Amino acid sequence: MKYGTRAGNPAKTRTQCVVVGVYENNQLSETATLLDKASKGHIRKVLKRGDIQGKTNQTLLLHDVPNVNSPRILLVGLGNSDTADPQRFVSTARTAIKQIKQISAKNTLCCLLETKGGGKGLAWKTSRMIEQFEAGLYDYTEMKGKPTESAQTTEVIDFQLTDKNDQNEVSAAIARAKALTDGITAAKDVANTPANVCTPTYLATAAKQLAKDYGSITTTILEEKDMQKHGMGAFLSVSQGSDEPGKLIIIKHKGAKPKDKPHVIVGKGITFDTGGISLKPGGTMYEMIYDMCGAASVLGTMRAVAGQQLPMNVVGVIAAAENMPSGKASRPGDIVKTMSGQTVEILNTDAEGRLVLCDALTYVDKFNPASVIDIATLTGACVIALGSHATGLFSNDDAVADNLVEAGENTLDRVWRMPIWEEYQTQINSAFADMQNIGGREAGSITAACFLARYTKKYRWAHLDIAGTAYKWAGLNKGATGRPVTLLTQYLNDRANET
Ligand code: BES
Ligand code: MN
Ligand code: ZN
Repeated sequence: MKYGTRAGNPAKTRTQCVVVGVYENNQLSETATLLDKASKGHIRKVLKRGDIQGKTNQTLLLHDVPNVNSPRILLVGLGNSDTADPQRFVSTARTAIKQIKQISAKNTLCCLLETKGGGKGLAWKTSRMIEQFEAGLYDYTEMKGKPTESAQTTEVIDFQLTDKNDQNEVSAAIARAKALTDGITAAKDVANTPANVCTPTYLATAAKQLAKDYGSITTTILEEKDMQKHGMGAFLSVSQGSDEPGKLIIIKHKGAKPKDKPHVIVGKGITFDTGGISLKPGGTMYEMIYDMCGAASVLGTMRAVAGQQLPMNVVGVIAAAENMPSGKASRPGDIVKTMSGQTVEILNTDAEGRLVLCDALTYVDKFNPASVIDIATLTGACVIALGSHATGLFSNDDAVADNLVEAGENTLDRVWRMPIWEEYQTQINSAFADMQNIGGREAGSITAACFLARYTKKYRWAHLDIAGTAYKWAGLNKGATGRPVTLLTQYLNDRANET
């Protein structure tokens, strides 16, 4: 999708559809007022007739409104203007794109940027609007036998400016938002790719493609033999059960001087999680193609960061492996040595995420990181605790945690902090090794985070459990959400704007 800006009278613009907002109580938005004037009161007449009351997410399509050059006007209800809030702004954007898609307007003039957003500015609104538009138009069709017939699809959306002095701000916001949504879309595509195609090697290829697409990016891959040299016994205990070789993928974005400490993001990239010898029940095992959504969010965020040319150093790391049962697979009861020197008793081979992550997290200390954030579909328990709205946040540093909460509240890609108090640590103490990889029924997502905390003491660290937020599994509406690319990109933007 191409986005642009337009100033001047929207009645004069020639486009297939003009999207314009109306509030409750017959209150017209600024652009609706212009269209009403041009059409000598047509919009007000329609409102008076009562077909649309301006309630949030109502829509009404008008044809051939007099003296308006575009053949269609889509009215979108904006709710009560006095109680406007950011969440509602996002939801009206979602409603608008649904309708635009339905009428397959090739080009559209969107007059919704002026909508009240509960104090949010133009750049914020532009970004949320484009995120919703791209999400609404997204379809994963890569695996269809023949390309799906599309009649006329949306190609251009121009944003109407109520003040032409806003041109620069909105244009810059469009460019940043486009880079962000390119990242989100890339994350969804790779996450939706099934596990027979999306292997650790496939993730490595996607990471190398990033280096081809952006001059600021370099990618290197640690193979299993390299990981052996580093003593990554926990990581290798997972990948050893699969015929697909595991990979530790390192993606560097250089946007600042070499000595500038990088922010590091580390993604869980289990391309399929059968549970291993501690086999998962068959019923919903297919969901585990999404066990690499952390990795997908790293790929997406690195793409966004490079596209936005952020003036900072960022390192993305992906711990990629497949968790399979086989004659080579690790057994419950096996004890392995991690790169950190600590040993782990593997009591459940299905708690594999923490095993690949702990070695990756030990490895990243060499980058002398400003902060490290890992992103993982780590526990079913997190879905029980928080559902699908909030990502679970765990951190050993209040400032990092607060920064993530703030970035989440700002973008509405939200997180909720949970504790990793010392008291929980006893649940993963082991009689035979330094720790065990499961902590019992209680507080499953916390004990998983406590496990990771034992490998992240040297730097400021946060863990995001995205098991509930990274994908939806509901019939034909299933698929990756692209979360938390927006959150991470905002967090990094905020860091770049610090100092
Ligand atoms: N990938 C799963 C977690 C998961 C479950 C994500 C459901 C999304 C939906 C993870 O590897 C796993 O299997 N975790 C176990 C841990 C347990 C064995 C301690 C779990 O959550 O049951
Ligand atoms: Mn598992
Ligand atoms: Zn898993």
